[in-house]
Amino acid sequence: MMATQALNYKTLFSPILINGLTLENRIVMAPSHIGLNTEEGFVTPEVIDFFLKRARGGVSMINLGAVAVNPRRLPSQMRMSDDKFVPGVKELVDRIHSETGVKVCAQLYDWLKIGRHWKQDIHEMTFEEIGKSIDYHEKAAIRALQAGIDAIEIHAAHGYVLASFLSLRNKRDDGYGGNLEGRMKIVTEVYEKIRGVVGANYPVGIRINGDDFIVGGNSLKQSRIIARNLAEMGLDYISVTAGGSYQDTQGVIPKWECPHPYPPVGGYSGYRSMPPADMPEAVNVYLAADLRKTIRHAGYATPLVTAGRIPYPELAETILEEGQADLIGLSRPLIRDPDWAAKAKEGRSKEIKRCTYCNYCVERELYGTPSLCQYTQE
Ligand SMILES: Cc1cc2nc3c(=O)[nH]c(=O)nc-3n(C[C@H](O)[C@H](O)[C@H](O)COP(=O)(O)O)c2cc1C
Repeated sequence: MMATQALNYKTLFSPILINGLTLENRIVMAPSHIGLNTEEGFVTPEVIDFFLKRARGGVSMINLGAVAVNPRRLPSQMRMSDDKFVPGVKELVDRIHSETGVKVCAQLYDWLKIGRHWKQDIHEMTFEEIGKSIDYHEKAAIRALQAGIDAIEIHAAHGYVLASFLSLRNKRDDGYGGNLEGRMKIVTEVYEKIRGVVGANYPVGIRINGDDFIVGGNSLKQSRIIARNLAEMGLDYISVTAGGSYQDTQGVIPKWECPHPYPPVGGYSGYRSMPPADMPEAVNVYLAADLRKTIRHAGYATPLVTAGRIPYPELAETILEEGQADLIGLSRPLIRDPDWAAKAKEGRSKEIKRCTYCNYCVERELYGTPSLCQYTQE
């Protein structure tokens, strides 16, 4: 019985090769900033415990979540913004490698400046600041290699610097905005710097929005061309998410009391990035499916990752079988049950503790407390 059920997941438990890196199955931990680092950003025993549990639970790759590349203050971030953070991250990566063999990915991100009652707009970013951001990404990539990270993901989604440049709302007329080439310029430069650091035979992926879900932002019309260009540039995988564009965030709590640069929930765009219970299952999968089709038509085999309200393995398997994506990213289901993948593999999917998508974990992040599950707290 056990074996039969596991065998039913033909694709979910098949390996995939991403630029020399073999992932043992198609289930990856989607980038999840948990907020268990120290106030300054150092790795703590709690961080190690959290990710080790998820690695032991059978995923093929852990994404450590957004890793800060800039030195600006923001509490409890995973950081690569200084050499002093390397030993802690290395200890975390070494533990995951030695105890589970699971691969580890760092999602590098930069955010726009934020003050008490003010938030920088990308139209205000100077050339010097753009140069700095590119430089921060490059240095963080060097540190990621030093820490033994297996893959780097460029965070060009949600409301952060790179996504804001990609957006159709970016009307800069100085070469870093306006037309598609301009909107992609900083992303291209960041990618080239990172590629220069890691070399040709190392996986560099990117996360983009299939749709920003804000008025005047990117929709599939834009993201199709962006995805095709990224595949052509040589990105080794494309992870497709949605929304989270800060322009749309509304006051869940007053912004100046919120330690997060852009409250990720509140407003429709925010909810699309972490779809709550009242949205349909697999609500964002069509975006990955569309971009996958676009890229395949253009002749590229770049793997696509999808995420968003995929609660159970049967659905994950169907998404893969139907060719809608190549990898399944899970965040909240793994926060709820670290053993999701192992239980599926062993034919015990009925024992998976189901995420209710209540977004308690997400709201905790807004208040600067660790994004743990209200049911498990681990
Ligand atoms: C607590 C929490 C933290 C997250 N942190 C990040 C992050 O750092 N970077 C990112 O791209 N997405 C982040 N996300 C979004 C997830 O990667 C994922 O796309 C989203 O939660 C939908 O997947 P799910 O339904 O499996 O949770 C986070 C989600 C949660 C719940």
